[in-house]
Amino acid sequence: MLGKTILLIVGGGISAYKSLEMVRALATRGVRTRAILTKAGAEFVTPLSLSALTGEKIYSDLFSLTDEAEMGHIQLSRSADLVVVAPATADLMAKMANGLANDLASTALLATDKKVLMAPAMNVRMWESASVKRNRALLEKDGVLFVGPGDGEMACGEFGPGRMAEPAEIVAAIEQALSASGPLAGMTALVTAGPTREPVDPVRFLANHSSGKQGYAIAEALMRAGAATTLISGPVSIAPPQGVKLQRVTTAREMLAACEAALPADVLVMAAAVSDWRPDIAANSKIKKSVDRVVPLIKLVENPDILATIAGGPHRPRLVIGFAAETDDVVTNAVAKRGRKGADWIIANDVSGDVMGGDRNRIHLISEAGTEDWPDMTKSEVGTQLAARIAQKLKGAA
Ligand code: C5P
Repeated sequence: MLGKTILLIVGGGISAYKSLEMVRALATRGVRTRAILTKAGAEFVTPLSLSALTGEKIYSDLFSLTDEAEMGHIQLSRSADLVVVAPATADLMAKMANGLANDLASTALLATDKKVLMAPAMNVRMWESASVKRNRALLEKDGVLFVGPGDGEMACGEFGPGRMAEPAEIVAAIEQALSASGPLAGMTALVTAGPTREPVDPVRFLANHSSGKQGYAIAEALMRAGAATTLISGPVSIAPPQGVKLQRVTTAREMLAACEAALPADVLVMAAAVSDWRPDIAANSKIKKSVDRVVPLIKLVENPDILATIAGGPHRPRLVIGFAAETDDVVTNAVAKRGRKGADWIIANDVSGDVMGGDRNRIHLISEAGTEDWPDMTKSEVGTQLAARIAQKLKGAA
């Protein structure tokens, strides 16, 4: 999403304040916002707050010499990667549906050559009126995307559909719309993350310190690059990235079954810290401490190797990437692992420090071409750069 720009049109509605929060969330994702504030919109939020959050000049007047001198309305409507209308009022919807262009917002909507995403917000009776329904159908037919409205109590006291979608939902819809033009558009990605838990009895399990952060960041980056992404996650306590299809599993065997069911995919990234072993029998009831203090012996058996199984299986993704979390001889072990598991790339990292659970990572990318040492960066940056490398590889091979 880094480097993308949206043109935000803020219409006149009480929910315009939510658009400010949305701008902030977009900025943290590296999305730049240029904004047009309609006359009615300026009754609800000020140009100053919008400009403080976007860090840009706010446009509002079609016939302003200064606005036109800085960026003409045609250029304004086309310089962005996506046009977002939030809140989209009945008036803005009607204008766009019928090709009216009598102010800057409607002119920009008519002049744009980019996708338009609308987040409607209006009173429930207005939303359900015949003309708004008709306009919505016309807009959808013209390819306009919609997010919301949601159901609930409205500012006017009435109840029903008409509330503007929440900022997080609109951000997710924006990401999805922007990623449709990303380098991995049309491709599918399967990512695993987190630990697995192997039950000893109903209250105990064998697991590890994996937080899932790196795998989640990779899934998010692949989704942002346009891939339809499935994330199969062991038990973790972090929020799933919006726009990614999440499936939760507990054990390694469940993870294998979920991965196989999610295939085929163009790329597999096995970032999960799968437990190599599991207790051969999971007791049905809690194992009790015996009176004579005999310590129970837990016999371990090997778990299936998910990476090796998929890499050698009938639905092998075009690019298979494994991880090697090592505490000693990181690169040597990882190079051997690449051959043993049949992976195309291995991402090796030294987990003797605080990588597990931390926000930063220093990785080595091991491929057929040799070993690349990447500098220390955030897990999210690793995700973004890895997604770019994956896109390069898959597109080169396509
Ligand atoms: O052999 P090791 O566990 O170090 O290998 C790590 C890589 O193999 C990771 O990509 C991990 O997700 C994968 N793996 C697996 N199934 C296992 C163990 C590890 O897919 N049972």
